[in-house]
Amino acid sequence: MQSKSLFALLAGLTLASASPLRRRCSNSTVPTPTNPVNSTSAVATPTLPTTGSGTQLDGPGSATLKHILVGHGIQNYTCSAAGATASSVGALAVVWDITDLYPGSSSSSLSADDFNLLTSRVLRTTNIPLNMAVDGSVGAVVASPFPDPVDLVIEGITSTVKFMGHHFFDINGTPTFDLSGADDGEYFKGKKDANISAPSDADKGADPTTGAVDWLRLSDKGTSTGISLVYRVLTAGGNPETCTDVGQTQSVPYTAQYWIYSN
Ligand SMILES: *[C@@H]1O[C@H](CO)[C@@H](O)[C@H](O)[C@H]1NC(C)=O
Ligand SMILES: *[C@@H]1O[C@H](CO)[C@@H](O)[C@H](O)[C@H]1NC(C)=O
Repeated sequence: MQSKSLFALLAGLTLASASPLRRRCSNSTVPTPTNPVNSTSAVATPTLPTTGSGTQLDGPGSATLKHILVGHGIQNYTCSAAGATASSVGALAVVWDITDLYPGSSSSSLSADDFNLLTSRVLRTTNIPLNMAVDGSVGAVVASPFPDPVDLVIEGITSTVKFMGHHFFDINGTPTFDLSGADDGEYFKGKKDANISAPSDADKGADPTTGAVDWLRLSDKGTSTGISLVYRVLTAGGNPETCTDVGQTQSVPYTAQYWIYSN
């Protein structure tokens, strides 16, 4: 159950600045969640979100859900020409465990609407959790993009969410998740199986002309430990602006839920 009206409201915001370099988006209209939602019924089994219409990502089959994460960071792009569509060159994000916030699963669960809006809330009310360049260049400090691990406090949500790790692209451009916070060696190198567009009412992020990055299904490239599948869903922001120059780089703030499965 998605809150269409809230998604539409958030997506339609006119933000004060279109710069993708700001530390956070406006939070002026993100509603306060009602938390916790008391539930006396049976514990819910989380179901992978869908976009509501059109082609969906293939499901996890017999794989078991291990974690639901919220990720916050930047999508990096380069430009081949003025007017071109920027090409993705990877992403950097910190991920935290939000499994217990899934509706009906624990005493700290959120309502379905608040859970679906969580990525938008994190994008708009928390700082980008990276060491961002301060020398005028775009993006993160390449040599050390990640600050020391910290749990995440989200405005209006009672429970602090646990640090779980880092998402980045390795030297070969392979999407990688290092879930050091899980303390059991979970590590994933994936390949993209499929992508679908985010729903039209997804939060478009800092620049409303761009939009939310695709939803993805990633499967193990063969060298992962303890993780076989990763889904990127409920995305907010992250798509690039139209290129203005050859060699231009862009780092666009985004958030997403990552659903982590193992065989
Ligand atoms: C962009 O993301 C890539 C992939 O994770 C990373 O290697 C690179 O350092 C990032 N660059 C900037 C400027 O943030
Ligand atoms: C999947 O991603 C490719 C490459 O970015 C893009 O061209 C294509 O339109 C996407 N497909 C869908 C269904 O969004």
